[in-house]
Amino acid sequence: MGPPTTPQTHEPHKPSEKSVSDAAKLLLNEAIADKLNIKDVSSSKTFRIADLGCSLGPNTFFVVQNILEGVELKYQSQGLNSPTPEFQVFFNDHASNDFNTLFRSLPVDKQYYVAGVPGSFYSGLFPCASLHFVHSSFALHWLSKVPKEVVEKSSPAWNKGRIHYSNAGNEVVKAYSTQYAMDMGCFLHARAQEMVCGGLMVVIVPARPNKVPHSQAIANLMFDILGSCLMDMAKKGIVEEEKVDSFNIPIYYASPQELEAAIYKNGYFSIERMENLPCVTTHDNLSKAKLFALSMRAGMEGFIKEQFGPEIVDELFDSFRKKLEEASSIYDSGKALYLFVLLKRKIN
Ligand SMILES: C[S@@+](CC[C@H](N)C(=O)[O-])C[C@H]1O[C@@H](n2cnc3c(N)ncnc32)[C@H](O)[C@@H]1O
Repeated sequence: MGPPTTPQTHEPHKPSEKSVSDAAKLLLNEAIADKLNIKDVSSSKTFRIADLGCSLGPNTFFVVQNILEGVELKYQSQGLNSPTPEFQVFFNDHASNDFNTLFRSLPVDKQYYVAGVPGSFYSGLFPCASLHFVHSSFALHWLSKVPKEVVEKSSPAWNKGRIHYSNAGNEVVKAYSTQYAMDMGCFLHARAQEMVCGGLMVVIVPARPNKVPHSQAIANLMFDILGSCLMDMAKKGIVEEEKVDSFNIPIYYASPQELEAAIYKNGYFSIERMENLPCVTTHDNLSKAKLFALSMRAGMEGFIKEQFGPEIVDELFDSFRKKLEEASSIYDSGKALYLFVLLKRKIN
């Protein structure tokens, strides 16, 4: 299941709560006001922004507009009203992303030049020292691929009867965490080349709190339940058990410590800020079950159809929702974390 053929990957557990996006917007504005040094970026007349894992919009348009306004304010606050830079925005996602829909829904009054950049953000995408601001939200928990050991029958990491690593043996968890470390290494290496010294990068990513076992992260609990629904269907003969055994979801929820380790290992970025975004929910458990089932379906439907065919989708997500309704205690016991990370490309 490599990137070129992966179906559109929406976030299966992205919170719909406004609290997360409001807090992220505030932190983004503060990041630009406090940490962007105009001297570092003003040698170019064009200020270049990239949103990595942009999907179809409209979130990416809101983010880009916030960045642009923040940068203009910063120029003005330094008495640099004219000339303010021109802005060029690069929207990146897999080549399979529907860029036509993205381009058709661009805001009509946008004040920036636009380019679409297809390809995996785990590889190089831009010329050297060309980007001033990089943004990526709810995308970096997607691995570049399923670790190969977990689908090899002869490997101690073979993940039989499960579709994810939580509640699996240590070997499976290790295979996923190793893949994550390798992917983050590639991501940071590529961005270190592409960003100007002093450029800023904001990453927003669902994560697992430090020291919390994988099996207690709420997003992992959700995948466990989805996996158990598939196994129920295998027992009833609706899907082949072998197909469940060979199906694994290429998502990893790293802890802040794991992310920090990757950043320190790379060495080209300073961590300017790392914070949890508050997620205040007002939904009751039944509405939560419905919402989680809907967002899991939006995120996973493409993968499920590719592996098992379209016929099982309704029944699968129906039984997923029912199991969630019965297991409502997971909302109290499961741990969720949405991380906001601000990095600055160090001066060489
Ligand atoms: C849940 S969506 C997030 C969209 C948007 N950033 C937001 O916050 O609403 C995740 C996006 O990341 C993209 N993505 C995942 N892995 C990627 C990769 N290696 N390279 C580029 N895009 C990737 C997916 O295709 C998907 O469009």
